[in-house]
Amino acid sequence: MTPTILQKLQNYFRPDPDPKTIAQQLRQPSGDLAEEVGFKMNEANKPLYDVMIDLIEPKDNDRILEIGFGNGKFFDKLFSNVNGLEVAGIDYSKEMVETAKENNSAPITSGRLDLQWGCSDALPYDDQFFDKVFCNMVIYFWDDPEPHLQEIHRVLKSGGRFYTGMRTRESMLNFPFVQFGFNLYKVEEWKEILIENGFSLLETTSRLDPKMEFNGSELRLESCCVVAIKN
Ligand SMILES: C[S@@+](CC[C@H](N)C(=O)[O-])C[C@H]1O[C@@H](n2cnc3c(N)ncnc32)[C@H](O)[C@@H]1O
Repeated sequence: MTPTILQKLQNYFRPDPDPKTIAQQLRQPSGDLAEEVGFKMNEANKPLYDVMIDLIEPKDNDRILEIGFGNGKFFDKLFSNVNGLEVAGIDYSKEMVETAKENNSAPITSGRLDLQWGCSDALPYDDQFFDKVFCNMVIYFWDDPEPHLQEIHRVLKSGGRFYTGMRTRESMLNFPFVQFGFNLYKVEEWKEILIENGFSLLETTSRLDPKMEFNGSELRLESCCVVAIKN
């Protein structure tokens, strides 16, 4: 859904939220700000989704799960050029689930996409169900990654792949809001955590994003995707 002229005007005259509010909204978009937060995440995280979809390479009849899909803007990229793909998504923001359902009515109606409200430490899927599980910009909000990674491990088929999309710690430290509850990792630290939780490392891809503007300065963030295999 694109914002109406009235919404754009309201946003223009609303003061920018403080860093703590931004951090809370990125962790779990809610209330009046949720829709705008969804749009902002689309702009900021499109380069990371580009890296992610290139690596996932959806194949015919794959079963793929996205954790923390936000407003679900990028599901259509998964469906191009493949047949029989089944995609599921889970997010614990009610507002994001509702918006993502509106944004993806065609694949939902045809049964190719199933979106649910819930938390990644209790995934509502059978054991060994998915070929691939991915998440972009979500691991920062797992205060203890272990229960989330155990669930991902459980729902993956043997040899299935888990793709972590993240910005490097150095990139994230450009943003004042990260001091409010973000768990930041160096890529090497995240790889260790994956290994401790029953995954083997397959490959890591890093790409510099196009320049973006933040608080009057120009930034180039580094998008990184770590691909791991269920042992
Ligand atoms: C920063 S946003 C990222 C959204 C999108 N993946 C992107 O990169 O633009 C984090 C999203 O993950 C969801 N989320 C965070 N922790 C979660 C969890 N434990 N289980 C399910 N969803 C979660 C939030 O509700 C939010 O929609």
